[in-house]
Amino acid sequence: MPALDTHTIIAVIGAGAMGSGIAQVAAQAGHRVYLHDQREGAAQNGRDSIARQLQRRVDKGKMQQQDLDATIGRIQPVARLDDVADAGLVIEAIIEDLDIKRQLLANLEELCAGDTILATNTSSISVTALGAEMNKPERLVGMHFFNPAPLMALVEVVMGLATSKTVAGTVHATATAWGKKPVYATSTPGFIVNRVARPFYAESLRLLQEQATDAATLDAIIREAGQFRMGAFELTDLIGHDVNYAVTNSVFNSYYQDPRFLPSLIQKELVEAGRLGRKNGQGFYAYGEDAEKPEPQTEPEHQSDETVLVVEGDPGVAAPLVQRLRAAGVTIIERDGPGQLRFGDVVLALTDGRMATERAATEGVSNMVLFDLAFDYSKASRLALAPADQASDTAVSCACALLQRAGVAVSLVADRPGLVIMRTVATLANEAADAALHGVATVADIDLAMKAGLNYPDGPLSWSDRLGAGHVFNVLTNIQNSYAEDRYRPALLLRKNAYAQKGFYS
Ligand code: NAI
Repeated sequence: MPALDTHTIIAVIGAGAMGSGIAQVAAQAGHRVYLHDQREGAAQNGRDSIARQLQRRVDKGKMQQQDLDATIGRIQPVARLDDVADAGLVIEAIIEDLDIKRQLLANLEELCAGDTILATNTSSISVTALGAEMNKPERLVGMHFFNPAPLMALVEVVMGLATSKTVAGTVHATATAWGKKPVYATSTPGFIVNRVARPFYAESLRLLQEQATDAATLDAIIREAGQFRMGAFELTDLIGHDVNYAVTNSVFNSYYQDPRFLPSLIQKELVEAGRLGRKNGQGFYAYGEDAEKPEPQTEPEHQSDETVLVVEGDPGVAAPLVQRLRAAGVTIIERDGPGQLRFGDVVLALTDGRMATERAATEGVSNMVLFDLAFDYSKASRLALAPADQASDTAVSCACALLQRAGVAVSLVADRPGLVIMRTVATLANEAADAALHGVATVADIDLAMKAGLNYPDGPLSWSDRLGAGHVFNVLTNIQNSYAEDRYRPALLLRKNAYAQKGFYS
């Protein structure tokens, strides 16, 4: 489907944070843009704020003054809705209210030509519901940008029940022409990103609630072992707990209170306390002038006389960790076994979703210490370890010393199923698998959305393939058994892939 050419006029309704950003994107791509807001002066203010943003780029030498002038010259604030009548694509970014949006769409249908595409930037309202009262609902499509629109690459092209494939295809191609990374999504609660990302926040919140460790340590593990851009607490402080909690509630209720989306009492309490995050100076962390960010818990240097690491069986995804230890001067001996590491009398194993204490009892190994997943063991600067209750202090110390020898900072966390990164990635993959099975989006589009929309280091499904569907399925099954909660039930597609011994991409 071809993109709209630059002769097509774009109209943006609502000149708030999102509308102004979208107007900037369209104007920078070469379109004339009408910017309308019902509040007097808001459209002009929107244009002025775009000019200020772009001026900063000019000042930094990242943009030519003439490009700024041309871009701003293409944006025309218009006072009356009637003034957008000759636009070929109208994108609404007004208040998030079904009835007000429906009224606007009815007005637009009356005044625009029959083939004008109408797009909505809604992040939580059903596109199907928005189109229900339209004369031609096939011309309505979701065009869900992320904040800030000029910087974030992702656009979810959301198809309601009646949306025409041609309309969606045109908007998809147009978003690409505007330098964005569009994905198709069906109109389901949370679309792709706001649904699939729920476990990222939920599992850190749950681990905090279960006192696995403190917020700063969980954030550090997520960043330094998981290679996510920010930890869940830093990120929700930035998003605002009111906003993040509202999205979680909305998705939870839209899915008829599926326990998979259960909101967190900790976050509820923050909202009730008015600790909304950065915007009012206090969330999980304090942001005042003198506020200091708490340090993550990091083990002091441990000593061990042990120099030989026995690798029992295939270390799987942890193979680069073994390489790293070898490079650090640890003698490696390989022999058959279940895929674990033995250092002195301590057994180190990658978490499979069971608690270390349970595993120690089942496998008859007291000195069992589990290590967490890392995005890339060859680079991870921190790893979480969880010792079994049965493990001796000397054994735990020995495990810490081993990793420290390879330059890895160690955070000891309490023994909880799946540790931190493994649990986060497995639940993200689980949600992504369910979204794929339910036809919300393709496997590739789900992964692309999570990378382009939230800067994840890898898509959850491609990450799951790297771990092996069997391992992820096993982790989830074990976590589910540990809690006896439906929240961790493995997605059907993951289960099927595990038995078929195949991945999402193979
Ligand atoms: P905002 O509150 O900053 O701006 C909304 C603007 O729409 C205001 O200037 C308001 O005067 C104007 N407006 C309200 N009703 C109007 C009407 N009937 N006709 C013309 N103008 C009207 O809101 P924001 O954050 O820009 O959000 C707008 C839309 O984008 C919402 O649907 C929201 O869910 C969605 N969205 C927001 C994101 C965010 O991070 N803020 C991200 C993605 C989507």
